[in-house]
Amino acid sequence: ISLKSYNTFGIDVKARFFVEITGLVQLQKVLELKAYPKKFIISGGSNMLLTKDIDALVIHIKLKGISIVEENENFVEVKAMAGENWHELVLWSLKHGFGGLENLSLIPGNVGTAPIQNIGAYGVELKDIFVSCAAMDVQTGELEGFNREDCKFGYRDSIFKNEAKDKYIITSVVLKLTKKDHVLHTGYGSIEMELKNKGIVHPTIKDVSDAVIAIRRSKLPDPKEIGNSGSFFKNPVIPKKTFEKFIKKNPSAPYYEMEENQFKIPAGWLIEQCGLKGKRFGDAGVHDKQALVLVNHGNATGKEILYLAKKIQEEVLKNFKIKIQPEVNIIK
Ligand code: EPU
Repeated sequence: ISLKSYNTFGIDVKARFFVEITGLVQLQKVLELKAYPKKFIISGGSNMLLTKDIDALVIHIKLKGISIVEENENFVEVKAMAGENWHELVLWSLKHGFGGLENLSLIPGNVGTAPIQNIGAYGVELKDIFVSCAAMDVQTGELEGFNREDCKFGYRDSIFKNEAKDKYIITSVVLKLTKKDHVLHTGYGSIEMELKNKGIVHPTIKDVSDAVIAIRRSKLPDPKEIGNSGSFFKNPVIPKKTFEKFIKKNPSAPYYEMEENQFKIPAGWLIEQCGLKGKRFGDAGVHDKQALVLVNHGNATGKEILYLAKKIQEEVLKNFKIKIQPEVNIIK
């Protein structure tokens, strides 16, 4: 079958075999199937670039369910199954008046993939509200628990991208949300501005979510309309010495100061300065409102997107002596 509708980039590759998973026991049974030695997991398909047909049994995770597992007067712990759509979970939390997810509104993808890259936006990362996740060992079929420390979260990074890569299937996630005294994160420039423009002085969690949604809609393409995987590259983090040389040459560049004398430079700015924003090579393109996002205008192949990505990396390296690395998982 074609995987076009199972990846947000809308890349038309085929799966040799395909199965949809709605229960944990079913997942265990499928993992045991010796007839299909190669298995490939797909969930929301929002952070991958498929570059060729998948000669394996593609396992589509559709585990569903949201429930409250702990509660007191201040907090709730919410367990969401891996196949729940991330934004649906955000909407569920807003409906119940639970705080913590509002800045992470409208991020494409499913709950189960959120920990893998520690999704983040507008000053909040998954790790800030994360309690634990359950993951199935693909070899043994056993469920294991990972708490926040076990996950080794970093900027768009976790154990599931490193030593635990391809070893586990995340089946559910538990998040700690607030019931009162919400601490809102509105410091991120564009949120403040969005609230101010609307004349909101004392924002609610819903107001913050609405602001985030408005900002995202204005910059980021909707995968339902134009195939994309959000930010294609990570923002490069460079040491102070390199940064000082960089900022001397590029005094108008935006940057964020991080811990340990490190500086993060928006890759979108670097790409735009290379004159690549809005450029199109066949159906593979650089989004015209956010240069960090690569888009599929219709029938681009994964290889064409990858070729464009390589060109962008070369241009940024040539012009700024900075290496940018993909955030998206490239399936070669
Ligand atoms: N910029 C440009 N030109 C561009 C794009 C950005 O000059 O084409 C400049 C902006 O003007 C701004 C700075 O770069 O000064 C940062 O831009 P923006 O606020 O849009 O955020 P970003 O650093 O490009 C990151 C995340 C996004 C997240 C936003 C908001 C990464 C790789 N990306 O993007 O995450 O939504 O911050 O918090 O860290 C994603 O991961 O898929 C994603 C969309």
